[in-house]
Amino acid sequence: MLQDRYGRRFYYLRLSVTDICNFRCNYCLPDGYQCEKSLSRENPLSVTEAGTVVRAFASLGTEKIRLTGGEPSLRKDLAQLIETAKSISGIRRVAITTNGYKLPGEIDSWQGAGLDQLNVSIDSLDPQQFRAITGHDKLQTILRGIDRALELNIPTKVNAVLLREHNLGTFNEFLEWIRSTPVSLRFIELMRTGDNREFFASNHVAGSDIENRLLRDGWSLVERERDAGPAKEFAHPDFAGRIGLIMPYSKDFCATCNRLRISAQGALHLCLFAEQGVDLRAAIAAGDHLALAEKIREAVCGKNASHQLQDGFTGGTRNLSMLGG
Ligand code: GTP
Ligand code: 5AD
Ligand code: SF4
Repeated sequence: MLQDRYGRRFYYLRLSVTDICNFRCNYCLPDGYQCEKSLSRENPLSVTEAGTVVRAFASLGTEKIRLTGGEPSLRKDLAQLIETAKSISGIRRVAITTNGYKLPGEIDSWQGAGLDQLNVSIDSLDPQQFRAITGHDKLQTILRGIDRALELNIPTKVNAVLLREHNLGTFNEFLEWIRSTPVSLRFIELMRTGDNREFFASNHVAGSDIENRLLRDGWSLVERERDAGPAKEFAHPDFAGRIGLIMPYSKDFCATCNRLRISAQGALHLCLFAEQGVDLRAAIAAGDHLALAEKIREAVCGKNASHQLQDGFTGGTRNLSMLGG
């Protein structure tokens, strides 16, 4: 079992399969993904290398794998990545986090490959606002994809980053949507990164404001599962969907941290906001998952108690496309 010096246990690995993203969300990559490298030259972990990573983590007690990016569906071999992760003994659940633009065409094949859970980003349900935030006119496509995922009975969560100037005014439209749509809709507090400092200053909204409003309006807190994400979840008898709040600026947010991250280049990140990753690419490429597991176990001893975001610390994280959130 993987455990750090604060007694936190890690059941959950977030494995980034590419840094590249085709959206240009104003809080993340407002100018789009800037890199001279193409996807093929990015040289992300191959399916075999990803398999070695998952095998190493599974040998240490990891039960859940979330594939992230950048945008994971830019990988043509995403279904193979899902299938490989799911085939490894000890892995109970495989999930992805996507911007959703390929959902209608791909979700059936992802489920066929073994996908258990889906998270999709939708920062506004107003098509114009959605385009202003993401740079793309894809809202209807993404909503169609979510309908299909629900038809296939895939548990689906939707992420909306709370933005004072861009979507806070349409909060009620989100609420109306989940009255009849059985998704977990999570409002994420905007996090400060190296790239978005000014944007952060004008757009950050405290999740506790929303929490107070929900409690006042009859929503109640749902108990957290062992491999759950960082969201506090709320339910209401009149709503098919649930609401989650992800509040990284709240006290003790990191006390229940249960996840580690591997970047698309094979570096282990002990926190979303760690200074730099531990480069494991050579050990991954060597293919010996038990030797890799030993390196991971040693590195985890260095995990810090908390991210210190509230003090302005963002570590080496320029934007979340680098590490997949
Ligand atoms: P599930 O509950 O398993 O669905 O996981 P999740 O909520 O972590 O998944 P998702 O990829 O949808 O992540 C949502 C967002 O939560 C991330 O992009 C981050 O913004 C935030 N988040 C997830 N994990 C962490 C973490 O360890 N630290 C911080 N500060 N934020 C996190
Ligand atoms: N703060 C909060 N959430 C962010 N995301 C990306 N950048 C940030 C940020 N700076 C969210 C995306 C997506 C998830 C993976 O991370 O909107 O839902
Ligand atoms: Fe938006 Fe996610 Fe792409 Fe960043 S990585 S631009 S948050 S879709």
